[in-house]
Amino acid sequence: MQSLVILISGRGSNMQALLEARRHNDRIVVISSNPQAIGLSIAGQYGVETAALDHRDFPDRQSFDAALAEIIDRYRPKLIALAGFMRILSDSFVQRHHQRLMNIHPSLLPAFPGLGTHARALQEGVKIHGCTVHFVTSQLDHGPVVIQAAVPVFPDDTETTLAARVLQQEHRIFPQAVRWFMEDRIRWIANRIEIIDPPCGGTELISPGLTK
Ligand code: GRF
Repeated sequence: MQSLVILISGRGSNMQALLEARRHNDRIVVISSNPQAIGLSIAGQYGVETAALDHRDFPDRQSFDAALAEIIDRYRPKLIALAGFMRILSDSFVQRHHQRLMNIHPSLLPAFPGLGTHARALQEGVKIHGCTVHFVTSQLDHGPVVIQAAVPVFPDDTETTLAARVLQQEHRIFPQAVRWFMEDRIRWIANRIEIIDPPCGGTELISPGLTK
């Protein structure tokens, strides 16, 4: 049996999308950095194992990451999916899980790394925005891209309407990327990602035209 660890901090809608699309012979464990995260109770409804590790109980990032790594190691996960995990991971944690840490980010990276992506996209007046699934490296929001989805930005968009449009696509591409990984269909070629045998000659970009 292969295992997948999903790290969350809050609402957990991406985690839920992963749980909806899970392969039933995989063992799934959800770990939250916030014991009050709504996502934890959602995970409970899916009958998967959960754990919480309150980052406020630790004096610094290194000690939190060490405790997190210890819990994760118990499950020997094939992949660790960061689904709205609002903690920056230390270099040592990232190195230890090299090529096994995947993140969903709400922008078309390398545009808008960090927080507040939708507000910044509106401020810049971009016409296309979106989301990215990428591997985590020690450079924040800059690892190799697995799949991206683009959405149009409309003149009357607000941060809320744009976030909702992007989130819909996040729920589409993250399960896709995780599945490719669990099926051993992701290959690193230098710093780029190649998908082995994508479905129906498919692509790693979902464009506005295809999503409407
Ligand atoms: C998502 O927009 C994700 O891309 C970002 O944080 C948000 C988490 O939302 N990293 P949810 O907890 O998955 O609903």
